[in-house]
Amino acid sequence: MKRFWEDTVHGIKIYKCDNLELLHTLRSNSVNLIYCDILYNTGKKFDDYDDNLGSPEEAVEWYRPRILEMRRVLAENGSIFIHCNWRLDSYIRVLMDQIFGGDCFRNRIHRKHSEPRGFYSNFDSQMDVILYYVKDKNNFVFNELFGERESIVPLFENGYLQGRSEARCCDCQVVDLGAKNKHWLVSDSHLVDMDLKGEVRVIDGLPYRFSKVVPVGNIWDEDEMLDQYSRTNTALAYDTPKPDAVLERIIKMCSNEYDTVADFFMGGGTTAVVAKRLNRKFIGCDISEKACVVTISKLK
Ligand SMILES: C[S@@+](CC[C@H](N)C(=O)[O-])C[C@H]1O[C@@H](n2cnc3c(N)ncnc32)[C@H](O)[C@@H]1O
Repeated sequence: MKRFWEDTVHGIKIYKCDNLELLHTLRSNSVNLIYCDILYNTGKKFDDYDDNLGSPEEAVEWYRPRILEMRRVLAENGSIFIHCNWRLDSYIRVLMDQIFGGDCFRNRIHRKHSEPRGFYSNFDSQMDVILYYVKDKNNFVFNELFGERESIVPLFENGYLQGRSEARCCDCQVVDLGAKNKHWLVSDSHLVDMDLKGEVRVIDGLPYRFSKVVPVGNIWDEDEMLDQYSRTNTALAYDTPKPDAVLERIIKMCSNEYDTVADFFMGGGTTAVVAKRLNRKFIGCDISEKACVVTISKLK
């Protein structure tokens, strides 16, 4: 496969072709993190590409061989994030379950993209969806973020849950959540990890984590997560850019320095730019020459 552009110093490779063609040529288990902001199938024709894959069923069949290949090239401890919206999210979720297995589904992130505009005969759609899967449910990278302030987080929830309510040791005592009709929110190995760091305290028989971890939920609605339309008026504009903050969070939390990050629907190169800034290697692919040119000028 002929490369469109390469930066050997930073380990960046850009390909201009159909992503399926490129995927067939990549080695198995060679990519640590995949993020793809796929075609949402809006039927819109953007300056840069045509967002039309036919019916949702036809779209799924178009995605199937691509997602199968993405799973193949993903490292054994790799993660994949597929960014879509209400048009295809349920279809892609089922497809991902079929290919990765339902137990490798990790989360469904809701990314707020705009404030409500209030001119529809409906509740305005303000969010899109990022589906997060791993290749191996027992082996994946997840880096917590730490800040200045200590937070106190309960490690339990109400309701007995088979396999999650058994008695465990922490803070030098045995805690039997099942006896209180509650269950653990974390796996035993994570609990041991936290306990070894001295983060677990048992108060009134219930376990809490005291730490400076920054809690990150699956609703991403901070200002920097919103679409920034001003970016579409610059010389390096691309029609549908995602904010850097979305990629920064995913890349920091789900890969390590010098890992390889790939985006097979690269667009204007948001993933490329953030991956480079965070010292990751990068493989990018887009069928549009403009996308490749815009990305390369940003990288330069
Ligand atoms: C939603 S945009 C990605 C925008 C990107 N996240 C950004 O921040 O700029 C989707 C991109 O997928 C590209 N694309 C569509 N079909 C493709 C294919 N078969 N192979 C590679 N790229 C494709 C389009 O040209 C478009 O640039």
